[in-house]
Amino acid sequence: MKTSVIGRTVVLLERVASTNNYATSQVRENEVEEGTVFLAVNQTSGRGQQSNRWESEDGKNLTFSIVLHPDFLEIKDQFLLSKAVCLGIDAFLRKYVDQVSIKWPNDIYVGNKKICGILIENAIMNGRFSSSVVGIGLNINQATFVSDAPNPVSLFQLTGQTFDLKAVLQELLEQIDRYYCQLIDGNVGEINRLFEAKLFRLNSWHTFRDENHEYRGRIIGVNEIGQLKVEEESGLVNEYHFKEVSYLI
Ligand code: BTN
Repeated sequence: MKTSVIGRTVVLLERVASTNNYATSQVRENEVEEGTVFLAVNQTSGRGQQSNRWESEDGKNLTFSIVLHPDFLEIKDQFLLSKAVCLGIDAFLRKYVDQVSIKWPNDIYVGNKKICGILIENAIMNGRFSSSVVGIGLNINQATFVSDAPNPVSLFQLTGQTFDLKAVLQELLEQIDRYYCQLIDGNVGEINRLFEAKLFRLNSWHTFRDENHEYRGRIIGVNEIGQLKVEEESGLVNEYHFKEVSYLI
């Protein structure tokens, strides 16, 4: 594999409840080399954000977790890791489909549909990251979805092609590795710039709702701590944490 950190070791798990749970228990019990990937063929209880389930048909998609040790990052900068991972997935997908974007904070969309979800779980010790488990569910060959809750779509549905999972995993890990190495090198300006440019619905006017009101606004970027910046028609800029705002139309 042409990666320098991510994917030097890939552990294949035939059947596992959740690769994030598995990776986390491995990190607790053993020393896990940075970049190790735990890949599930069948994931029986995949977890999404906010305690949601992650739907993935057996053997059809990529469901895996990467163990990282981003101890070079300050806790306040943790969203940079999410940005780097999103950019790697975006770069991989752009080879196959158009209209890829990042729906803040870290869903990957093609058009108006979600193709990939990311669940990052960090362990912090003495004010630094001791480890980070980056769980990725990327829909590749699944033809239909039972639940339409996250508005799912797969590469197969978009292109009509069936993909070799081993080959696409390799390509994907190479792209994530590229951006993770940029982060290690401190190339933060470039990561921030690219991430903002890829934001879903960037600069287009929509209706937003927060706990106080509903208004017309447009996403203009993300601040230093990863909050979404939405400008109202009056010019006022609101900054939100995850789940503090929803966008309607
Ligand atoms: C989301 O809700 O968008 C996040 C979905 C993350 C799913 C992946 S699949 C591999 C890893 N293991 C899990 O249990 N969840 C993540």
